[in-house]
Amino acid sequence: MQLQDKVAIITGASSGIGRTAAKLFSKQGASVVLNARREKELSQLKSEIEAQGGKAEIVVGDVQLESTHQQCVETAIEHFGKLDVCFNNAGWLGEMNSVEDVSVEGFNETIAVNLTSAFLAMKHQIPALKNNGGSIIYTTSFVGPTMGMPGMAAYAAAKAGLNGLVHVGAIEGGEYNIRVNAIASGGVDTPMGRTVADTPENKAFVEGLHALKRIAQPEEIAETALFLASGQSSFITGAILPVDGGLTKTKV
Ligand SMILES: NC(=O)c1ccc[n+]([C@@H]2O[C@H](COP(=O)([O-])OP(=O)(O)OC[C@H]3O[C@@H](n4cnc5c(N)ncnc54)[C@H](OP(=O)(O)O)[C@@H]3O)[C@@H](O)[C@H]2O)c1
Repeated sequence: MQLQDKVAIITGASSGIGRTAAKLFSKQGASVVLNARREKELSQLKSEIEAQGGKAEIVVGDVQLESTHQQCVETAIEHFGKLDVCFNNAGWLGEMNSVEDVSVEGFNETIAVNLTSAFLAMKHQIPALKNNGGSIIYTTSFVGPTMGMPGMAAYAAAKAGLNGLVHVGAIEGGEYNIRVNAIASGGVDTPMGRTVADTPENKAFVEGLHALKRIAQPEEIAETALFLASGQSSFITGAILPVDGGLTKTKV
């Protein structure tokens, strides 16, 4: 029970990595606050967690809004008495278009969902974590910080910016024993991952980028989030941890 009596917020909990992490965190003893926009999916997940003897509350809301992050923190405190772990994992590929064709609105919205949301989350989580310390975790990508992919200008810019935010968060949070890290994920078999690997050719291309010649299962990313949430990573902060099947070491 690596998260016994801990309280965790998980964004992007209605699908993919976030849904898998929510179940894993709960299994490891955490009470969880689940956020995404799709209420039906969150309610279903809450029921599954409760059926297994866990505790969960849902916050339905868009991560672009400051009020969503305020509500997540308030829900953790009101229902579970404190906050220990924040897995700020929600993300979106946004408008996929070349730089010359992408709309300004589409660019800005992609930045808002992937980057401004990360700032808003940290802004409201740090005050709640200051008393006891805690762990803030993000899901970043190889797209942006490591390489470019055509049609992903805004997503890449957001994820590269997110890495900078992690560095500053770690420096500012350190004196309060607040650790801030990011998982630099390779390709993952989720609805988002399947959007990119949408044809047999594209799937083979994406798999071939990885040294392991496959993409990850969401459990493999969730297990890393658990490690970064738990005391097992107590001296790790400011890290952008590659969990990418060797993608960043592969020459294609
Ligand atoms: N899959 C990959 O290959 C891959 C690779 C590298 C990094 N990542 C990162 O991993 C994270 C999780 O992605 P995933 O692969 O698990 O994708 P996913 O299955 O599509 O899940 C994305 C989650 O984000 C939530 N979300 C999206 N926009 C939101 C918004 N505006 N407000 C609130 N919630 C929002 C979605 O919930 P609702 O739709 O219900 O709001 C959903 O729960 C993302 O940050 C992504 O960038 C993924």
